[in-house]
Amino acid sequence: MSILDEIYALKDELEKNWAKVSSLQDLESFRVKYFGKKGLLQDFIKKLSSLSPEDRRVVGKLVNELKEKYENLIREKKDDLSSSSGREWDLLIPPRQIEVGNLHPLTKVMEELLEIMAGLGFEEVSAYDAPDVEWDYYNFECLNIPPYHPSREMQATFFITDKMLLRTQTSPVQIRTMLKRKPPLRVVHVGRVYRFDAFDATHAPCFHQMEGLYVNKNVSFAELRGTLEKLVKEIFGEKAEFRLMPSYFPFTEPSAEGHVKFGDRWLEIFGCGMVHPQVLKNVGLSPEEWSGFAFGLGIERIAMIKYGIDDIRLFSDNDIRFLRQI
Ligand code: DAH
Repeated sequence: MSILDEIYALKDELEKNWAKVSSLQDLESFRVKYFGKKGLLQDFIKKLSSLSPEDRRVVGKLVNELKEKYENLIREKKDDLSSSSGREWDLLIPPRQIEVGNLHPLTKVMEELLEIMAGLGFEEVSAYDAPDVEWDYYNFECLNIPPYHPSREMQATFFITDKMLLRTQTSPVQIRTMLKRKPPLRVVHVGRVYRFDAFDATHAPCFHQMEGLYVNKNVSFAELRGTLEKLVKEIFGEKAEFRLMPSYFPFTEPSAEGHVKFGDRWLEIFGCGMVHPQVLKNVGLSPEEWSGFAFGLGIERIAMIKYGIDDIRLFSDNDIRFLRQI
């Protein structure tokens, strides 16, 4: 066997054995056997001096190439094996469970409603322009409900002082908006309202309403009807049946209740009507020039129908088992 054949044989052997290196121990034996001070490569280097100049050049080059190649490989492999401390990957370990939260059902309904209203051209009034702690004046008087008006009975009120209260409805947002901005106006607001009611399956001392207001020249009752009907179909589906029935609110004339049919029952969803001329006057708008419609709805009621919930208290109990179902 010529010296060249020997070195090619060694090259093959190196490749074969390199493939078997799988631990730090293997790596060390491999290094010592071939590249150590008494290793096989060293034997070749010793032989170089006895070769002819041409052979010396060829063999020397091959030996150097092998040395360089494997020294690099050994260094990298050593890093690899040390960093994983020689441990194998266990691909069967179950992954860590990541807890993903979800939005509260009321938040979902409010966001959905605001999106629908935005599609109908209603601009949102933020909570900054619609405080929960409100003046009696905006919550009642400006809405055509004077101090001893019997309709105050319907909205048991948490008073803070004799002039200040927790708003019982989102309707004062109509007043605040009309005082601040010139018509035409098309606004919507969702927020909390408060009533001095005992908590039971259908009453809560704090709940949420959405209020809509449109003021322009020559606003018609037909536009109110069209808007509410569109809203109903967007929330409950194209097939939902909608009707308006006569009603009474001091701040609208005429006033109506909007009902939606579920199974064979009509449920009241909206209070609504044409903004009362006295309310327009109260905010400095001439009823001869301007007209408008307004409506209000209860967010909890929509969520209860939508998700089949029969107890309003579930929304505020913070029971994670309930919240996870939706
Ligand atoms: N604020 C009324 C309530 O809480 C609901 C309502 C009725 C709002 C008629 C309106 C309206 O804007 O026009 O019962």
